Amino acid sequence: MSNVKAIILAGGKGTRMKSELPKVLHKIYDKCIIDYVCDACEDAKIKDIFVIVGHKHEMVEEHLASKNNVKCLLQEYQLGTGHAAMQAQDYIEDDDYVFVINGDQPLISSQTISSLISFCKQGNYGGVVLSAIIDNPGSLGRIIRDNHGNLNRIVERKDCNDEEERINEINIGVYCFKGKLLKDSFSKLDDNNAQNEYYITDVPYHIKDMGYNFGVYAIADISEYQGINSREELSIATSTLLDKTRKYHMNNGVTLIDPSSTYISLNAEIGKDTIIYPGTHIQGDTVIGEDCIIGPNSHIISSKIGNNVIVETSKITESIIKDNCKIGPFAHIRPKTNLDKNVKVGSFAETKNVNVGENTKIPHLIYTGDADIGRDVEIACGVITANMNVNWEKNRTVINDKAFIGCNSVLLAPVTVGKNSIVGAGSTITEDIPDNSLAIAREKQVIKENYNKK
Ligand code: UD1
Ligand code: CA
Repeated sequence: MSNVKAIILAGGKGTRMKSELPKVLHKIYDKCIIDYVCDACEDAKIKDIFVIVGHKHEMVEEHLASKNNVKCLLQEYQLGTGHAAMQAQDYIEDDDYVFVINGDQPLISSQTISSLISFCKQGNYGGVVLSAIIDNPGSLGRIIRDNHGNLNRIVERKDCNDEEERINEINIGVYCFKGKLLKDSFSKLDDNNAQNEYYITDVPYHIKDMGYNFGVYAIADISEYQGINSREELSIATSTLLDKTRKYHMNNGVTLIDPSSTYISLNAEIGKDTIIYPGTHIQGDTVIGEDCIIGPNSHIISSKIGNNVIVETSKITESIIKDNCKIGPFAHIRPKTNLDKNVKVGSFAETKNVNVGENTKIPHLIYTGDADIGRDVEIACGVITANMNVNWEKNRTVINDKAFIGCNSVLLAPVTVGKNSIVGAGSTITEDIPDNSLAIAREKQVIKENYNKK
C-alpha cells in the first residue's frame, strides 16, 4: 500500500502579522498555529510529517522538538511555496502520496485531510486541490476550471486578469499529490510571475501537462478554510474554533450557561451533565468527568477531573482531582497536585506537588507544597507546610491518616506527623511526631495580673 507523507509549509515571514514571533507560533486560544496543523495530520494517521522552516527557524524547530514524527527541513531563502515544498523532495518516494498544507491553515480538520487523500487515490488523480467558494476571494489564488468543470490551473490574485479576479472559487492552500509527479514538477517550476516566486500552485498545471487528471475537492465545512495572515484573521480563526468546540460539547450533553464567555480548548474532553458557568477557561488536554459543576470564573489547564466535582472560581494546573472533590472558591491548585476522592480544598488554599488522601479537608488559608497527606486528615485555617530550607532545597512533609493540624501551625519540612496525631494550634513543628500523639510547640501563655492599671 502506498504511504502518505505530509509537508507543512511554514518557512515564510508572516509579514502581515507585524510580529517578532514567527507566524506559526502565534496561538489560536491555547495552542500554536503549527500544532493544530501537525495534530490534524497526525489524527489523519499520517506518520511522516515534514515542516518546512525558514524565518526564525530555530524558534519553530525548538517548539517542535518534542514531536517524534515531525522533522523540520530548512528552506534557507524564502523563494515561494513551491520552493518550500521542494526542500522535502529527498524524502519523497515515487509511489508515496504527498499531502501538502500551508502552515497557516490551522482549521483544516483531520477528516478533511483524510477525505482529500481518499478522493485523490480513488479518482486516480495526479493530484487534487482543496477549494472553497467564498464571497470575498480577496488576495487568494483562484481556481480556474475548464469547460468540463475540471481544473485548468490555479492563478494567484496578483497574476489574475479582470475576468479571473472575479472568480470566487479559491485555493485553500491544501493539496494531495502523487509523489513522483510532484517531484517531476519541481524541476519545471519557474519564477516568471508577479511575485518572482516558485509557486506550488503551478504544480497542477505541470501534472496535467504530463497527461494526468488533476482534481478539485470542494471543502465540506466552509468554516475550515480560514487562513491566517493577519491579527484580524487570527481573531476570526479563534472565534470560529471556539464556537465549534462549544457546539461540540453542548451536543455531547454539557451545559454551557453562557457559551460566548466559556472557552474550551480543542483537545479538552468533558463528560455529560457537567455544567459550566461563565468566565471559565478549560485548556490543554484537560479531561473533566460527568456531573461536575465548573465555574464561574475558573481556569483549568491540562488536568484530569473526575465525576461530580465542584470547582468554584479557582485555578487548577496540571493536576489530578478524583470524584466528588470540592474546590474553591478561590483555591489555587498548582502542578502535581493529586487529590483522592472526596477531598475539599477551600478558599485561599494553595497546593503544589502534594498527594492528598480520601476525605481530607484543606479548607481555608493554607499552603501545602511538597507534601504527602493521608486520608481523613483535617488541616485547620492558616497551616503551612514550609517546604524550602535556607539553602533553597525543597523537602517533603508527611501527614499520616486521621491527623489534625491546628490553626496557624507551620510544619517545617522534612517532618512527619504520625497517624491519628494532633498538632496544637500555633505550633511550629520541627521534629517528627509519633502516631496517636499530641504535639504543641509554642510559647506557654504568661499572665501578669493587674498589669494594666489604666
Ligand atoms: C497561498 C497560495 C494561494 C492560496 C493561499 C491560501 C501560493 C503561491 N499561493 O497564498 O493560492 O489561496 O495560500 O491561504 O502558494 N511559505 C514558505 N516558504 C516560502 C513562502 C511561503 O514556507 O518561501 C509558507 C508560509 O510560511 C505559509 C505558506 O507557505 O505558511 C503560504 O504562504 P503565504 O505567503 O501565506 O501564501 P499566500 O499568499 O497566503
Ligand atoms: Ca497565507
